[in-house]
Amino acid sequence: MRVKICDLKQHKKPLEELVGKTITIKGWVRTVRNQKTFSFIEINDGSTLTNFQIIAEPTLPHYDTLLPTLSTGTAISATGQLVESPGKNQALEMKATSIEVIGKCDTEEYPLQKKRHTFEFLRSIAHLRPRTNTLGAVTRVRNALAYATHSFFQERNFVYIHTPIITGADCEGAGAMFRVTTLDVEKPPRKEDGTVDYSQDFFAKPTFLTVSGQLNGEIYACALSDIYTFGPTFRAENSNTSRHLAEFWMIEPEMAFADLDDNMECAEAYIKYLINYVLKNCQEDMFFFDKYISNGLLERLELVRNAPFEKATYTYAVRILEKSGKQFQYPVKWGADLQTEHERYLTEEYFGKPVIITDYPKDIKAFYMRMNEDNKTVRAMDVLVPKVGEIIGGSQREERLPQIQERMRELKLKEEDYWWYLELRKFGSVPHSGFGAGFERLVQFITGMENIRDVIPFPRYPGNAEF
Ligand code: 4AD
Ligand code: MG
Repeated sequence: MRVKICDLKQHKKPLEELVGKTITIKGWVRTVRNQKTFSFIEINDGSTLTNFQIIAEPTLPHYDTLLPTLSTGTAISATGQLVESPGKNQALEMKATSIEVIGKCDTEEYPLQKKRHTFEFLRSIAHLRPRTNTLGAVTRVRNALAYATHSFFQERNFVYIHTPIITGADCEGAGAMFRVTTLDVEKPPRKEDGTVDYSQDFFAKPTFLTVSGQLNGEIYACALSDIYTFGPTFRAENSNTSRHLAEFWMIEPEMAFADLDDNMECAEAYIKYLINYVLKNCQEDMFFFDKYISNGLLERLELVRNAPFEKATYTYAVRILEKSGKQFQYPVKWGADLQTEHERYLTEEYFGKPVIITDYPKDIKAFYMRMNEDNKTVRAMDVLVPKVGEIIGGSQREERLPQIQERMRELKLKEEDYWWYLELRKFGSVPHSGFGAGFERLVQFITGMENIRDVIPFPRYPGNAEF
């Protein structure tokens, strides 16, 4: 039977039980080192960061013809006895009794050679990059973070809701949506006035890929109390930055009978839970990131996990920025949205830890946020973390019908487009709150990876939908 390398590395079984056992191991060759009388073959099967070492001696069948075919990238199956390894990098190695080539790999053509490649180059070979140490580690940590996300919310009795991907509602009101249509884009049917006749489209109305599952999430929170979504979301904004994707995954909890303080508590506990989980369960990969990707990562994560997050209102944050003496590219002014440079100054330099900024001006936030008594600011919160900036955005929702109608009028949003959302405010309305956490930004923050395009298997961004 085939054994995966992770099962040999993690000492799930005591060493004595493994030594002497004959097993079969399968994977892709990373290196072959020829010694005088034998060869070391290192293979990797992606189940864990480290390679597994196989010793091939000339007594192996077809040794002389086999060895030259084992170039980097070749898929092999090796059977043999597990022995204790004298090397310091591993406890066990295999003395092979047979090695079979499963899939050849042409050295001349194989783009993944032993040297280090740039992440830009690896993006152009996204079908092969998960075979590298870094992308393999990112993928395993991403998986662990997804698992931990479900554990966190399930432990708190949140119900997982699947919200639709195709929608007619623009949640964030930002208009950066991808259209979904089956109309002939070359020759769409037109009404008498010349505009496109969407009544003939598949859903008999204009539809888009969702930017957020929040509005649907609110419906379920106002019935099941605490819910969360975890799914793909889409933004057609032309942002070519290391923090934006056109398709990204978002976790959106929504809590009934909860105010902004409850929301902040949940967000902070969630981030700390994720850090705890990977520090405990992904040690090998996390050491790798600390050593090769972002020096001091582990220490920074420990600090985030152990100290309470700072809190500051938007108005106070603007005052800090104005007094900072810094020359920002975008000027700081009450009423203007915080830019990444401002966010990073606050969290990295001023506070030196995660900070939650609350009570933003209503004009830079979405229509559904609860109005404060000043009638100028809303009960919004953004969680900012070092290196990434905004990692979570959320708010207490406006649960009062007249207030939300007033806000929609101001923003020229049509009530009939949101009739069901407004009815929630009519039938047993309750204070409720929630947030959206960008999953890739969480993965970025926790792995220390510089570019968001390298923490999702197949990134979508302006000009790129390859693979
Ligand atoms: O701040 P945003 O736009 O908030 C919402 O969509 C709310 N409906 C969430 C809610 O209250 N339920 O997005 C939430 C988070 C951001 O903080 C950021 O981490 C991430 O989603 N995000 C992106 N991540 C990658 N690429 C993009 N283009 C992103 N836009 C937002
Ligand atoms: Mg936001």
